Amino acid sequence: MKELQLEAKRIEDSRGRPTVQVVARLNGLEGKGDVPAGASKGEDEAATVDVEVAVKNVHDVILPLLRASSWDLKKHADLVQAERAVVAKAGDNFKILGANAVVPTSRALWQLAAKLAGMELWSYLRKHEPAAAGSERVSFYMNIFNGGLHALKKKDGEVLGKDRIDIQEIMVVPVAAARYAEALLWGEKIDAALKRILIDKFGDQAVTRADEAGFSVKGLGDSSAAFALVFEAIKKAGFEPGRQVKMALDVAASSFFDAKTGKYQLRGDVISSDEMRAYLSGLVDKYPGMILSIEDGLAENDWAGWTKHSAQMHERQVLTIGDDLFVTQLPRLEKGIATKAAHAILIKVNQNGSMTGTLDVIKHAKQHGMKWVVSHRSGETLDDSIADLAFATGALGLKTGDPQPERDFPERNTWVRRAKYLRMVAIEKQQ
Ligand code: PGA
Ligand code: ZN
Repeated sequence: MKELQLEAKRIEDSRGRPTVQVVARLNGLEGKGDVPAGASKGEDEAATVDVEVAVKNVHDVILPLLRASSWDLKKHADLVQAERAVVAKAGDNFKILGANAVVPTSRALWQLAAKLAGMELWSYLRKHEPAAAGSERVSFYMNIFNGGLHALKKKDGEVLGKDRIDIQEIMVVPVAAARYAEALLWGEKIDAALKRILIDKFGDQAVTRADEAGFSVKGLGDSSAAFALVFEAIKKAGFEPGRQVKMALDVAASSFFDAKTGKYQLRGDVISSDEMRAYLSGLVDKYPGMILSIEDGLAENDWAGWTKHSAQMHERQVLTIGDDLFVTQLPRLEKGIATKAAHAILIKVNQNGSMTGTLDVIKHAKQHGMKWVVSHRSGETLDDSIADLAFATGALGLKTGDPQPERDFPERNTWVRRAKYLRMVAIEKQQ
């Protein structure tokens, strides 16, 4: 890779926080990659370093390493080897180089390798990573009601369960939409219906859009009440709840769990793990056939609780998904498989630290009969490569926030969520 060029720079994510973009160039072609950032992070996620340090590490450490090698980006095995060498250099859990240096480089290299092969990223992935490839239809997990740390205004003294709902994400999943373009349209209609319902009920001032572009209502702290409003919006938009459109939750329970007491704080009450499970089962039972999956229903280290929760949800045909629980890392996934902790894993490239490492996790999940949902982060950029990853692997879902209807989001540079859904629509057109 003597001729390879890597140009790293600081860009802003959707929260206006600095992050890193890398452009990789070779033979007159280029690949680009960004790194997003979470707000509700799992404690074992790949570590990041200061943005300035990450930019410097790309130029001063990663580029010389790759240039000194005889790897050829036109050979897939070489791309994988190169990436593994960078990951090895990144230190224990990426603490030395930073996942925010390695992830954008990794994404840029994969995009470049696909271009060198004359392929779209999804088709490159399917061809070269057959053990991870799949052609199952991907469902859109569209987060239209935001709560938890994505909605809470801590500096204004707001409290979870009172000023904002505890549950981080209430999503609609248009399971019966025949095409991705249709799924996006259904999501937009439900978004519009929910907006009308919320403004009628709570007034203009109280209704805002939060970190993932879904709605949040100041003063509405009860997650069950918010769930009921989204359910109503599905009907109001003209869809049959449970058949055409299902719902999914990301509870992000670690964000209201107190590790010292081992208790959860929900709707202002301090409750046990058993009570937390009972709350979730109660919600599922109140809306039969409606809830497709529950992500992070319990805290990331409540392993015993997770095993019971997954058994209970299995009886109800609801999938449990581990996000903070697994942080897209093999050792935690292995523990989860051994303890039957969850039915599915959330996949975030920046939790893992590289594309190759992420694919290793997907393959492992697949081998053990688990499903996976590919996800964005709450602090996102316009990088849409997670759509290619979801499509190429036949993921259960692509979770990337609100559909961001054009009427409410007239500026394209704000489409950090919509861009991923649109990429799925574009990929579908290539079939
Ligand atoms: P995060 O949220 O990016 O803030 O971690 C997304 C999620 O929890 O799934
Ligand atoms: Zn999550």
